[in-house]
Amino acid sequence: MSTILKVEDIHVAYGRIKIIPGLSFEVQEGQVLGVIGPNGAGKTTLMNALIGLVIPTQGKIIFDGVDITKMSPEKRCHLGLGRTYQIPRPFEGMTVFENVLVGASYGAGRTEAKARPYCLEAIKKVGLYEKKDVLAGQLTLLDRKRLEIARALGTNPKILLLDEVAAGLTEAEVQDVQDLVAELKTTGITIIWIEHVIKTMVESTDKLMCLSTGSLLKYGDPIETMNCAEVQEVYLGVDEE
Ligand SMILES: Nc1ncnc2c1ncn2[C@@H]1O[C@H](COP(=O)(O)OP(=O)(O)O)[C@@H](O)[C@H]1O
Ligand SMILES: [Mg+2]
Repeated sequence: MSTILKVEDIHVAYGRIKIIPGLSFEVQEGQVLGVIGPNGAGKTTLMNALIGLVIPTQGKIIFDGVDITKMSPEKRCHLGLGRTYQIPRPFEGMTVFENVLVGASYGAGRTEAKARPYCLEAIKKVGLYEKKDVLAGQLTLLDRKRLEIARALGTNPKILLLDEVAAGLTEAEVQDVQDLVAELKTTGITIIWIEHVIKTMVESTDKLMCLSTGSLLKYGDPIETMNCAEVQEVYLGVDEE
């Protein structure tokens, strides 16, 4: 197994507000890394740093052997980093297919003709093929989540970054997302998945890391991470969402 992503002592701040004060970890190709931590722990900020929406003030991010620390989001997307947003923002007046095509062409820097096959494949993978011509605004919440994942997949990523895709779903629907992620994993894609639902994280990830105030509390096998005293302390009294 090889390392596909290496984060080396990154420091991330919004202006003067320091959010991540030095964070290091690695992700192995083909694995699912789960990221947990209380609200405000810096999980989305980490995602933003990986994707290039915020540039670390120190440290390095090495993706597939390439230093991407200061690279633009477009270039990273082109190299194979695909992400979903915590708050899905589909174009409601566009169809499922058109939504995926926007990301796959404009987002990934491909012509529409080149992007089309990736789009159809992505839509099939998430189980929305029957609804490819339905307007995004008419989808159920679960299908909007599927669409969000398809939009990221349409860019043909090597690493898929999921930011709380299960939020707001019923238990049964969360299981559907979990099944989808398990299916995607069989294709060899690497996944970094931020989620609050502990059961899902323990069942779905190969490695689980817990952040607290921007720092790494624990990185390890999922059960090991959940059994860690510091992690339990952080979660004590914190309701699962
Ligand atoms: N654009 C921003 N500017 C300033 N502070 C921000 C910004 N985005 C997030 N923060 C702050 O950074 C901290 C971490 O936020 P975030 O990464 O969203 O946490 P999480 O995703 O773990 O809930 C929070 O204290 C939040 O208020
Ligand atoms: Mg967040």
